[in-house]
Amino acid sequence: MGRIGGLVGVAALCVVGACALWPERWAVNAPVRALLLGWESDAPEASVLATRVRVADGFAIAPWATGVKNARMLRFTPNGDLLVSQPRLGQVSLLQPDADGDGLSDGRRVLLADLNRPHGIDLHEDWLYVAETDAVGRIRFDPVAGSASGGFQRVVTGLPGGGNHWTRTLRFGPDGWMYVTIGSSCNVCEEEDQRRATVMRFRPDGASGEVFASGLRNTVGIDWRPGTNVLYGTDNGRDLLGDDFPPCELNRIERGGHYGWPYANGAKIPDPDFGAGKEGLIRASIAPAHGFAAHTAPLGIAFLRGDHWPPAYRGAALVALHGSWNRTEKQGYEVVSLHFGGRETVTERRFVWGFEEDDDVIGRPVDVAEGPDGAIYMSDDFTGSIYRVTLGAGSPSATPQEGPGARDGDPLAQLPTEERKARAARGQALYARWLCAQCHEGLRAKEGVVVVPLEKLGARYGVEDLMAFLEAPTPPMPALDLPADDRRDLAVYLLDAHP
Ligand code: HEC
Repeated sequence: MGRIGGLVGVAALCVVGACALWPERWAVNAPVRALLLGWESDAPEASVLATRVRVADGFAIAPWATGVKNARMLRFTPNGDLLVSQPRLGQVSLLQPDADGDGLSDGRRVLLADLNRPHGIDLHEDWLYVAETDAVGRIRFDPVAGSASGGFQRVVTGLPGGGNHWTRTLRFGPDGWMYVTIGSSCNVCEEEDQRRATVMRFRPDGASGEVFASGLRNTVGIDWRPGTNVLYGTDNGRDLLGDDFPPCELNRIERGGHYGWPYANGAKIPDPDFGAGKEGLIRASIAPAHGFAAHTAPLGIAFLRGDHWPPAYRGAALVALHGSWNRTEKQGYEVVSLHFGGRETVTERRFVWGFEEDDDVIGRPVDVAEGPDGAIYMSDDFTGSIYRVTLGAGSPSATPQEGPGARDGDPLAQLPTEERKARAARGQALYARWLCAQCHEGLRAKEGVVVVPLEKLGARYGVEDLMAFLEAPTPPMPALDLPADDRRDLAVYLLDAHP
């Protein structure tokens, strides 16, 4: 790739694939096999999986179905069949559960075919709803027989289709509305169609369509946090601003909210191409609830609803990071868990990883779903596989990883007194050096800084939780890129000072 500087404006106008001038900050680095084979590959050998793919402590992972080409969004039926959308094939398939106990889906059939890039799928009353790129349709679905009948009726037509972000995600909310996400037509631009870069909602019969929230570049995953009915959505940040900016986002999506795009990125940081003159809009926009690393491409999100999960995972959200295509070093290609703490803090941890290693890619996660069998299912559109994650041997419920949330006891109780003292002292020095007090005590605070007092951290965090928080803090708290040992010292100091 040529090194051509000063072409920021030109690059922003280029359509992916149709741009002859690639500036240096635009690194095309998609999986090699994807470029050669059109984004498809075979499922990895069992031995490769066993040595490469890792899962959080206490969990186990195994392939559940292979050869499900272009497997994208997942939805379970009440009878335990798994519906999978395959937009490139124009179809939705039904995968039967594993009744014979060999760990694999027992069979599959194509449920719907000849659709226009069907992506989002959901069940509501007796209907299976499918979002095509420019329409939403429904067909009668019998969960017992696992079959669809009657015609496919389009209840919403004329949605803006195609463009850079052509996938439409569809889910019914706890309020009975049908939510449909519509990504932007471009990397960054002012859209002519006001339904672009939004989450819309409709009545189940397609009536009363309205834009629910806007300024969302490409929200692919949406789910409602159990117990709160608050809508959360992933969003992919724009390209062409370098390897490490802007963050991809988790947004707490409110009705009428504007989430910044194309005028701002991350926590209300003005966009270099479109931010000028939009200060009022940027100020009124809503910053992300959590930032993912740049270009990791968060897609599907699922809050865990089962009460059999280890305490740290109950109510946590799993997010599939599809992986970067325009970053010098690949990032993403994993599933992360998000743990919600007090004061709206969100802590990110790895959940399934190893699909990318030394630039070699063997999987790209798209969606996650909790099955009626109490396992977690993950789709991979790179190899056309569905993986199943279960509680592993050495049951983690016996050794729960404490997460943010209500906890008992002193999180530092296990630490020898000498180490506790030494770490707390080093942590205090780091706290001073990194000017944490500016924002947390108002000491020498810059104008406009909102002071967030640190209180009762011990009631909500263990050492590992705080370390994880400091590694990926909730915006607007800045990430400092500290080595693990420094983060441990800081965590011990914070828990010592704010039990
Ligand atoms: C520029 C301001 C800023 C700086 C500097 C800053 N923070 Fe924060 N911090 C915040 C904000 C804002 C939040 C609240 C985020 C939220 O949940 O909305 C926060 C949250 C936290 C929390 C979680 C609090 C809770 O109740 O759950 C901890 C712990 C924390 N910060 C520690 C630190 C440490 C340690 C440093 C220094 C290394 C630091 N912060 C530097 C702004 C800052």
